[in-house]
Amino acid sequence: MNENLHTLRCFGCGARIAGQEASPDFRCAQCGDLFEVEYAGWGQRQGHNRPNPGALKWLWRERRCSSEALDQSGVWRFRELLPILDNFGNAVSLHEGNTPLYKLQRAAKALGIDQLFAKHQGMNPTGSFKDTGMTAALSVARERGFAWVACASTGNTSAAMAAYAARAGLRSLVLIPEGKIAWGKLSQAMDYGAVTCQLKSDFDGCVRVLTQIVKESPIYLLNSVNPYRLEGQKTPAFEIAEAFDWTVPDHLIVPGGNLANSSALGKGFKELLELGLVARMPRISVIQARGANPLARSFAENNGERMEPVEAHTRATAIRIGNPASWRKAARTIKETGGWCLDVSEAEIAVAKAELGTEGLGCEPASAVTLAGLKKLRAQGKVAGGETVVLLLTGHTLKDADYTINFHRGTLLGDDETAGHEPEIAALQRNAVVVDATPAAVLATLNGLSG
Ligand code: F0G
Repeated sequence: MNENLHTLRCFGCGARIAGQEASPDFRCAQCGDLFEVEYAGWGQRQGHNRPNPGALKWLWRERRCSSEALDQSGVWRFRELLPILDNFGNAVSLHEGNTPLYKLQRAAKALGIDQLFAKHQGMNPTGSFKDTGMTAALSVARERGFAWVACASTGNTSAAMAAYAARAGLRSLVLIPEGKIAWGKLSQAMDYGAVTCQLKSDFDGCVRVLTQIVKESPIYLLNSVNPYRLEGQKTPAFEIAEAFDWTVPDHLIVPGGNLANSSALGKGFKELLELGLVARMPRISVIQARGANPLARSFAENNGERMEPVEAHTRATAIRIGNPASWRKAARTIKETGGWCLDVSEAEIAVAKAELGTEGLGCEPASAVTLAGLKKLRAQGKVAGGETVVLLLTGHTLKDADYTINFHRGTLLGDDETAGHEPEIAALQRNAVVVDATPAAVLATLNGLSG
């Protein structure tokens, strides 16, 4: 069961290659599409490669009490379902995963939904869901003997890559769009020792430059076109299923940027189903920011068959992506699971983020699109009150403190954007006040509130 059994299967033409044969940009030599990791024998009902569901559930739970570093990772705890390394001793881990699943009470009440949860992937070591994918793909880079790794990023991938590279003793190169990423993320890449290049371009431009670089130099590409990233990013599906005692929620709602994460989670649930660990799949819906909504447009116009890139603009900089690489994979996940793809406005994102804040749950603006999207789905009658819904929160609130402060100060959004949302925004804003350093002045502030 621990043998490295995987092959790479092209998502477009179905061609199969060995892991070592992938080109530096992870595109299929036949058709140019992306690869998925595939494991021999899992689809068959019998066969010596097929894991035993009951034994796995027991083993994974036991590992939660283990003091072994690999067992303490919420990714490698499930290593039987990601046999991508020849030797698990090569795994580079920062104890990622095992993130909390919080019950949302206020939002559930407001929306008339009984069971509403947030799986907070911002509670990972570098503050975003990228850690689960990075531990997997960077371990492959180390096993294959690369000295350099690289990514183009809106910030979180670069923070995660730089941290894991530092742990492994590898050098890392980061390409980010100048002025378009949150300071928290840039500071992380610097602190973890990455060579950080701010390009006078957007995320899509950074991807174009890096794709050329990896073709010309022995640098391992760690963007989410790298199929091993998705093997790590599928593991929150296992954690969610485990948390619900191997039933699955009715609906999982995920933010969409470069569109890899939604399909990684879909792959995770699909493998659980194929292996007999769960009996069904959740619906998976993807929510984009209105200014960076190529997939939402594609679903509205042609049911996700074709996608036109857009010039992306949103303050949710993590998902400011106009030409998402993995859109076909995401479209398949949405269609296979009966989910939807919607977009939400800048004001809807800001309000949803502040509402999550009132429940004691901070997150990045890109994560808050999930609650904003759920409100729309509920209003459209696509989510019933009796359903169990999980929102995937992808990033920690401190990644982008400027956004939050600007919201509370009333300097985040323009009048054209707040139109129609003024009362809910005013009710959520909590600006800090400057007062004299006396008890009387502070108490006067409190009296002012109640009055
Ligand atoms: N949420 C956050 C906080 C992100 O950082 C990203 C992507 C997404 C959602 C979207 O996930 O791309 O799989 O659809 N951030 C990337 C980066 C692009 O470079 O950090 P996706």
